[in-house]
Amino acid sequence: MLDGPNFMLMAVLVVLLVLLLTKAGFSQSNDRDDNKNVPIAVFCGTNAVISVPNFIKNRNSTYNDLRMQILSQRVLYARAQALSAGDSVFAAAQCRNYLSVDQCVACFDAGVSELVNCTSGNGASVSFDNCFLRYEDFADFYNNPYVSEDANITPNVLCGDQSASQPTVFNQVVDGFLSDLKDATPKTSNFFVASKRQIAGGNATVYVTAQCIANINQATCQTCMDRAYDKLNDCLPNREGRFSDLGCFARYSDTPFFNDNQTMDITKVLKGHSSKSAIIGAAVGGVVLIFLILLSWFLYRSWKKSKKTEQAKFEGAIHYNYKDLQLATDNFSEENILGKGGFGEVFKAVLEDNNVVAVKKLLVQHARAKEEFENEVRLISNVHHRNLLRLLGWSIEESCLLLVLEYMPNGSLDRFLWGSKRGTLNWNQRYEIIFGIARGLAHLHDEFHVKIVHRDIKSSNILLSDDFKPKIADLGWQGFNLRTKPMLAPSLPGYTAPEYALHGVLSEKVDTYSFGIVVLEIISGRRSTDVGSDAQSTYYLLENTWKLYEKKIHIMVIDETLNLNRHEQEHVTKIIEIALLCTQSPASNRPTMSEVVLMLQEGQSLGKRQLTRPTFVTIKIGGFI
Ligand SMILES: *[C@@H]1O[C@H](CO)[C@@H](O)[C@H](O)[C@H]1NC(C)=O
Ligand SMILES: *[C@@H]1O[C@H](CO)[C@@H](O)[C@H](O)[C@H]1NC(C)=O
Ligand SMILES: *[C@@H]1O[C@H](CO)[C@@H](O)[C@H](O)[C@H]1NC(C)=O
Ligand SMILES: *[C@@H]1O[C@H](CO)[C@@H](O)[C@H](O)[C@H]1NC(C)=O
Repeated sequence: MLDGPNFMLMAVLVVLLVLLLTKAGFSQSNDRDDNKNVPIAVFCGTNAVISVPNFIKNRNSTYNDLRMQILSQRVLYARAQALSAGDSVFAAAQCRNYLSVDQCVACFDAGVSELVNCTSGNGASVSFDNCFLRYEDFADFYNNPYVSEDANITPNVLCGDQSASQPTVFNQVVDGFLSDLKDATPKTSNFFVASKRQIAGGNATVYVTAQCIANINQATCQTCMDRAYDKLNDCLPNREGRFSDLGCFARYSDTPFFNDNQTMDITKVLKGHSSKSAIIGAAVGGVVLIFLILLSWFLYRSWKKSKKTEQAKFEGAIHYNYKDLQLATDNFSEENILGKGGFGEVFKAVLEDNNVVAVKKLLVQHARAKEEFENEVRLISNVHHRNLLRLLGWSIEESCLLLVLEYMPNGSLDRFLWGSKRGTLNWNQRYEIIFGIARGLAHLHDEFHVKIVHRDIKSSNILLSDDFKPKIADLGWQGFNLRTKPMLAPSLPGYTAPEYALHGVLSEKVDTYSFGIVVLEIISGRRSTDVGSDAQSTYYLLENTWKLYEKKIHIMVIDETLNLNRHEQEHVTKIIEIALLCTQSPASNRPTMSEVVLMLQEGQSLGKRQLTRPTFVTIKIGGFI
C-alpha cells in the first residue's frame, strides 16, 4: 500500500508522464497527422459515364448537398443524389464520431479534392483517418457496401513503422483490445467505438476506434470488423495500425488521436464478456465448471468459424428452406407465376420479412444436377453488377432446385417493345437500356475473374428496374442447362450467332451478336423474327435493316412510336450501325462488349470500319431440337 506522500509523488509523476506523452503525440508532425487529412486509400472506378460534363455536374451537386447537410444539420453522416439526364450520382460521406463538424467538413473537402481528377468513371471512394467519402451511379451501396463490382477492391492496411518498446505485453494487450473492439462495434447503436486501455505494468496507453458505415446491417458490420481484426493483428507489435474498407474503418495507436472525454467503456457493450469474468471470479475452486465453460466456448467458436467459412464461399447468396419458399409463393400457385422459360417457371414470392423476390423453379432432374447446381450458384453468386440480375439465394431440397432472385416490378423489356406497354419508352430510356446491357455484358466477359458467356441474350431476358435500368437475367444457367440436359435448344433463332447456331462454335462474340439484335429490337420496336407487313420488309429484322442500310435509309428502321428530333435521329442512326457491326461474321469482325461500351459512350461512329452483309440464319425453331 502507498502512503500519503508517496501517493502524491506518484500521482504527480503520472500526470507529468501523461502530459509528456500527450504532447509528444500531438506535436508529432509526420505526414499522417490527423489534421492534414492524408488519404489511406483512394479508389477511382472505371464504370463508364455517358457524358463526362453531365456526370461532373451531378457529382458537384451531390457534393454541395452533402456539405450543406453536415454544416447546417450538424451531422457526421450524409447522403445525397443527383439524377438528372442519365449519369446519376449517389454519394455518401461519413466522419468519425469524435470529430467536430468543422473537422468533419475539412476532411470531406479533402476527399472532394482528392477525387477531383477521377472523371473517367462514375464511382469512387476515398478514406481518411477522419472520414470516408464514396459515390456511385447506383444507390444499392448505401445499405450494402459490397454490392457492386467495386467489391473486389481489397481492404487497405497501413501499419506504422515503429515497434512498441515492450512488444510482448503490448501485443497481448492490444490483441485483446482489438478483439473486444471487433465484438463491440457491431453491437453499438451507431456502429462506433472509441476507447483506450492501459498497457499493464508499462507506462503506455493504447487508443482504438472503429466505425462501420451507417445503415448497413449488423452482420455486414461484423464481417468487416472480423477482417479488420485479422489485418490489424498483423501490424503488431507496431505502435499503430489502420484498416479501411468499404464497410468499416478501424485504427489503433499508442498516441492519442481523440480527446479523453470521447472514450467509452467498451466492456459495457460486451455484456457477455463481463458476466463471464464474474462467473470465473465466483467459481474459485470450481475448476471443472470453468473447464466446461471454456470447452463449450471453444466448441462454439470453432462451430461459428466453420459456419462462417461455409457462407463466405457464397458471397451473400443465402440458403433458403424449401418450406419457406413454398409458403412465400403460396405453394407455387398459378397466380404468382411471373413467367415461364426454358428452365422452368418464375414465381413472385413475399418473404417473411415482407421483401418481394422472384423464385425460379428449375426443371432439371438429372442425377448430377445437384452438384452442377451448387457450382453454378457458387459462380453466379459472386457476380455483382448493377446491370446483372442478382442471385439472392438458393434452395436444394425435395429434389427441387430453386433460385431466389431480385424481383423487378417492371418485368421484361419485350413488354415495352411490342407487348402490352408498347410505345411507353422514349429514346433516352431506350439508349440507357442499350448502354446498360452493354455494360453488364462487358462485365461478364472482361471484368469478372472468369469469362462468362451468357449465350441467351434476348429482350425477354432483360428485366427493367423501377427506373427502367436494365438487368440481364438468366446468367450462367444456360450453360448449366446445356451440361445437364444437352437436348434443349441453345437459344431462340433470330438472336443466335450463325457460327453457334450452325456449328456450335462458342465464344463471347456470340453475346455480341445477340446484343446487336436486341439493340435493333429496341430501336425498331419489332421482334427479331417478325416479318413486316409491307412489301419492303418481308425479311427478318436484321436482313431488313441491312437492306435499308445499303440504301442509306436505315433511319426507316426506327420505331414509329418514337418521336425524334434531328439530333436524336442522327444518334439513333449511329447506334444502328454499331448494332450491324455487332452482327458481322466471322465472329472476329465483331467488337468485344468493352469496345461497344466505349463506342456508345464516346458517340463514336464506325470510322474506318466497313460493314459487310451479315449472314442471315433463317432456321425455324424445329431446326434446333
Ligand atoms: C464544380 O464545383 C467546383 C467548385 O465548387 C467548381 O470549380 C467547378 O467549376 C464545378 N464544376 C461544374 C461542372 O459545375
Ligand atoms: C489533378 O490534376 C491536376 C492537373 O493535372 C493536378 O495539378 C492535380 O495535382 C491533380 N490532383 C490530384 C488530387 O491528383
Ligand atoms: C516508460 O516509457 C519510456 C519511454 O517513454 C521507456 O523508455 C521505458 O522503458 C518505459 N518504462 C517501462 C517500465 O516500460
Ligand atoms: C472534451 O474535451 C475537449 C478538450 O479537452 C473540450 O474542448 C471539449 O469541449 C470536451 N467535450 C465535451 C463534450 O466535454
